[in-house]
Amino acid sequence: MIRLLLFGKIGQLGWELRRTLAPLGEVICLDYPEVDFTHPETLPGIVEQAAPQVIINAVAYTAVDQAESQVDMARLINATATGVLAEQALKHKAALIHYSTDYVFDGRKGEAYQEADHPNPLNVYGQTKLEGEQAIQQVGGAYAILRTSWVYSTRQGGFVTKVLQWARQQAVLRMVTDQVSKPTWARLLAEVNAQLVAMAGDDPYGWLAQRAGLYHLAGGGVASRYDWAQAILANDPRPAEQTVQALQPALTNEFPTPAERPLYSVLDCSRFTRTFGLALPDWRVTLSLAMEN
Ligand SMILES: NC(=O)c1ccc[n+]([C@@H]2O[C@H](COP(=O)([O-])OP(=O)(O)OC[C@H]3O[C@@H](n4cnc5c(N)ncnc54)[C@H](OP(=O)(O)O)[C@@H]3O)[C@@H](O)[C@H]2O)c1
Repeated sequence: MIRLLLFGKIGQLGWELRRTLAPLGEVICLDYPEVDFTHPETLPGIVEQAAPQVIINAVAYTAVDQAESQVDMARLINATATGVLAEQALKHKAALIHYSTDYVFDGRKGEAYQEADHPNPLNVYGQTKLEGEQAIQQVGGAYAILRTSWVYSTRQGGFVTKVLQWARQQAVLRMVTDQVSKPTWARLLAEVNAQLVAMAGDDPYGWLAQRAGLYHLAGGGVASRYDWAQAILANDPRPAEQTVQALQPALTNEFPTPAERPLYSVLDCSRFTRTFGLALPDWRVTLSLAMEN
């Protein structure tokens, strides 16, 4: 049994990690306000006291539009605090698992992105997440940076729950067809994370040091927001409650937002599969599992 320190226990992913990591050992779970990533100077004491063999960081500033006007806070949480965690992980010989995003790319490549592709974030969130990745890479040690995309859960205010809510309030739903990526169920992402920790055995630092790096890990297949919304409506466990009569295609530029988003941010996840022998299933299969009653 090993000691794990999980940062971010109530976010979409952290909530699932708390469950999937539980059988692997003693899991110390922290979230705001027990830990505040806007005060990175507090992190060394927390890590020292927890003395973990594995640190998993599911904390992030994820409010993509708000980040445009809260640059300093987004940077403190996504970049500065992440760098401090990497230093502490190295110092205490703990393996570090951290999450990043498809929004490090500008979406202009026109085909799936590989880990070696040049990042070019279009917004503050993507820029600060990229800085977090770079901070970890500069420190080194035993780390996995898992870039993922369109993370959803059926229990909090993400895309799936919003679409279900709008479908009960509106007659017409308009969804963009030109934002394309890979929907990723937080629970399966957390399952894969737990499998990595299990594979690492009783020497997670040594095991991950041999495989340290950046990996893409997202749901199988490719979807537009329109495709995704259509599948959510089709899997609605209570369709009789829907007021929506029509789902109509739209374009991103019809909905101006403070943050620009990449249009085609599909991640090629083959490196992860080659290295660890695991892959997330097709997003449609996963969505129907996630929405089953
Ligand atoms: N959601 C997506 O579509 C998506 C896509 C690609 C990558 N990712 C990445 O995947 C990871 C998990 O994302 P998620 O969707 O689970 O995010 P989330 O639901 O927004 O959870 C983020 C967590 O960070 C915590 N947090 C925020 N500010 C904090 C602070 N100052 N100090 C301590 N904790 C703080 C939040 O706590 P509170 O709830 O108390 O604020 C929450 O528990 C992140 O690294 C994210 O960048 C997400």
